[in-house]
Formats: sequence, C-alpha cells, structure tokens
Amino acid sequence: MIRTRTKVKDLLEFLDSGSTVHVKGWVRTKRGSNKVAFIALNDGSVIHNIQIVIDVSRFNPELLKKVTTGSCIAVTGTLVESPGQKQSVEIQAMDIELYGTADADSYPLQKKGHSLEFLREIAHLRPRTNTFGAVLRIRHAMSYAIHKYFNDHGFIYLHTPIITGSDAEGAGEMFRVTVLDDKNPPLKEDGTVDYQKDFFGKETNLTVSGQLEGEIGALALAEIYTFGPTFRAENSNTPRHLAEFWMIEPEMAFYDIDDNMDLAEDFLKFLVRYALDNCTSDLEFLNNRYDKELIERLKNILENDFVRMGYTGAIEILTGSGQKFEFPVEWGLDLQAEHERYLVEKHFKRPVILTDYPKDIKAFYMYQNNDGKTVRAMDVLFPRIGEIIGGSQREERYDRLYQRIREQKIPEKDLWWYLETRRFGTAPHSGFGLGFERLILFITGMSNIRDVIPFPRTPKNAEF
Ligand code: 4AD
Ligand code: MG
Repeated sequence: MIRTRTKVKDLLEFLDSGSTVHVKGWVRTKRGSNKVAFIALNDGSVIHNIQIVIDVSRFNPELLKKVTTGSCIAVTGTLVESPGQKQSVEIQAMDIELYGTADADSYPLQKKGHSLEFLREIAHLRPRTNTFGAVLRIRHAMSYAIHKYFNDHGFIYLHTPIITGSDAEGAGEMFRVTVLDDKNPPLKEDGTVDYQKDFFGKETNLTVSGQLEGEIGALALAEIYTFGPTFRAENSNTPRHLAEFWMIEPEMAFYDIDDNMDLAEDFLKFLVRYALDNCTSDLEFLNNRYDKELIERLKNILENDFVRMGYTGAIEILTGSGQKFEFPVEWGLDLQAEHERYLVEKHFKRPVILTDYPKDIKAFYMYQNNDGKTVRAMDVLFPRIGEIIGGSQREERYDRLYQRIREQKIPEKDLWWYLETRRFGTAPHSGFGLGFERLILFITGMSNIRDVIPFPRTPKNAEF
C-alpha cells in the first residue's frame, strides 16, 4: 500500500503535471461550493499543503461530509497546474478514501492561530500544526547534520550509559533509579535505605552527562562524541531549561582549550549553514510567522568570528557597563543569562566564548591554571540563548585531579575508574557539551524550550 504513496514534498519538487498521484495526509481546511470543493492536505513531508480539487457531483455526499478539518484521507488524482495564485500545482481528485474522521465539534485544532501555551496542553496533537511540523523537521535535520559532521571528521559515536552510579557534574541534581519497594525499603542498621539490596547493588541515577564515560572513549579512540538524553532534577522553570534534554558531547585526546574552541566554532557554524541550506521552507515559515530577524541572525553567525576572552575580562565589561542587572556581577560569581546576553547582544553583537572561569563555580574535572584560582573552562554564548555550549580542557594530571575531588568532597568510591584513566596512559584532552534543544531554539527562533522538543519534561509536567 505504502509504495504507491506520493509524498507532497516530492510531488512539488519532481513531478510534472499530468502525472497520476496517490497522496495521503490530514485535512487542514476544506472550503468550496456545492459544485466544487477545495481541500488543503498536509502529509508532514513539507510545510506546504497540496490543494485537492473535488468535483462534488462525482462523489458520494455522505463521504464528502465526513472529510473535515483534522480528518485523514487518501486521494488518487491527476496533478495539474493550478490556476490559483497560492500554489503552482493541485490535484484533481478521482478517488478519495477516508481513513479517520475528526468530529468538528470536538477536534481541538479546528481553528487556526492557537497560542503556543494552549498547544503545550495538547502535545499529542500539536505535531499536526505548521509550527510543530517545521520545528520537528528542523530537529531531525539537525540530528542528521550532527552525525554527518562528526562522521566526516573521523569521530567515533560512543554510546554512554543512561543509568549511572556517579554524578558527572558533581551538582547533585539527579533522578534516582530504583526498584526498591517505596513503602517498605530494606534498611541498614543506621536506618538509611540499603541500596546494596537494590537492582544494581548500589545507588543509581539517570545520567546528567555522558562526559566521564566519553573521556574513557577519547583516551582509547582519540576522538569520540556522544549524542543522547540527559536528565537534571533542577527545579528551574525557565524558557531555557528542561528536566530531560539531549546533549552532544565530543571528547578529544590531544586537544587543548584552543583546539576545543576551534572545534566548537566550526561545528556550530556547520550546523547553522546546514539549516540555511537544507531547511529553507521551514525557516522561511518560522521567520515570517514568529521572528522576522531569524534568517538574518543565522547568517550573522556565519559572517563573524566568535569573540574569545577570559571570564575576568567579561566581569570588567559587565561592571563597567552601567547596565542594571537583576543578579549581581562580581568576580567569583557565576554569570546569569542576562549577563551572557548583554555581552553577546549589546556589547559584541556576535557569539562569545568565555574561558578561565573561577574554579569554585565549575566542575571538578577542569584543568587547573597556574594562578591557583581559575580553570580552563569554556562557555559558548549565543544571542537570545546565553550559554549554548559548556566545556573545558580536562585535568589530566592525577594528583591535581585527586586533590580537587577531595576538596569538592566528591565520593571517591564512585570515581575510582575515572581516576585510573589518569594513572594509565593519561593524555591532554578536551571536550564540550552542546545542549541540543538550545541549538534548536536558536535555529528555529522559538522562545520557549518546551516548544522545540516533542514531549517536554519540566517540573510538574510529564503528561504525554
Ligand atoms: O554546561 P553543562 O552542564 O556541561 C556539561 O554537562 C559537561 N559535562 C559537558 C561536557 O563538557 N561534555 O551542560 C552543557 C550544555 C549547556 O551549555 C546547555 O546548552 C545544555 O547543556 N543544558 C541544558 N539544556 C536544557 N535544559 C537544561 N536543564 C540544561 N542544562 C544544560
Ligand atoms: Mg554549563
């Protein structure tokens, strides 16, 4: 059955008028008179609908009555040049098969122009809107482009675990994984839960990052990347945070921080260029509908070198700016999105890579500079997003790493294997993590991260 289906995308690109076509999809609108009816059909392959023209006298009126907005149909017909202004071709229907009706009184997408907030409440239906069709196709194209980039550069795709026994970021924001009876868990003598009796014989959580396992890969295969789901139980209800998000984490032996920055910049530019070249009609739709500067902003990324500067210099710019910020700016404090966006959008007007952050606001694994105060961290800051990438050169010296783990009171028993990579054949190495949804936010111009993932997981929200 499926082999005879013509995708609307292909039909618009390749087929000549006169061809017999067999399309299947969902009715966006139906209008017309008692002589002729026009259906706008969308099949998800492309933002554009195909117009189906129906000579009413040739069809069963009962069938046509059931073809309403939201219903699913298959149409066999002839592709003809369209006399209308809005489309180049249309289909003259010969046969219509009805797969599924959508009751006009209860179908939630009966009318156009629903708010994004409302659409979040119907995540099971919102992929049928133009906006989510565009976003989901771009999300797909970006996933493919990421694998293409790394494959073309000789990186190995390493699958790191989702269930882990360690906290990669040392921030304690993890979701517990357990099969113990929540009403009556086995207890140790001191009254605490005895995780030795749990499935894995120890405490386990959903991973916050594949980095530590990625380092194991890099110290054997030289250049690897991970691309998978990561989980954070941080209670941040912002337009840029999800509890479940996807992260791309390359990790490279023999790269120092400068090589790391070069890779991050080249990688991001490749992805933006890929979107401009391959997602044109979806980007044009989003540009017109939501964000008139979207395509310009994407082009701007390709035209400029990213600024590279130290955290200390950034603090000086921010404190000297005369700008009022909600959160304080002071050497030693972490930067908030408002500070990052000031640097990118107001001060430099292009992406910024900040390095050499205070060691106390960064994770234990970062390379320690000789000043005793800073580490070789790097954050890539983007317009509208703030931090899109976080990474660093890694501390490859066993003694320095061990001392930092002790200082930050990270349980050594969970990280003995990580420390051993520094005892046996250690090497300078670096890596970073790109938040996939933050990338998609930037590429699509959407404003809320809940609208760039099909099924967002945020505090108090896991319905679909
Ligand atoms: O800066 P983060 O926490 O860095 C790491 O996890 C490192 N282990 C990465 C590495 O060096 N391999 O997270 C990396 C990126 C951030 O820059 C941001 O884009 C994204 O992941 N991110 C989130 N995206 C959505 N929701 C959240 N709650 C996010 N937290 C981080
Ligand atoms: Mg970070």
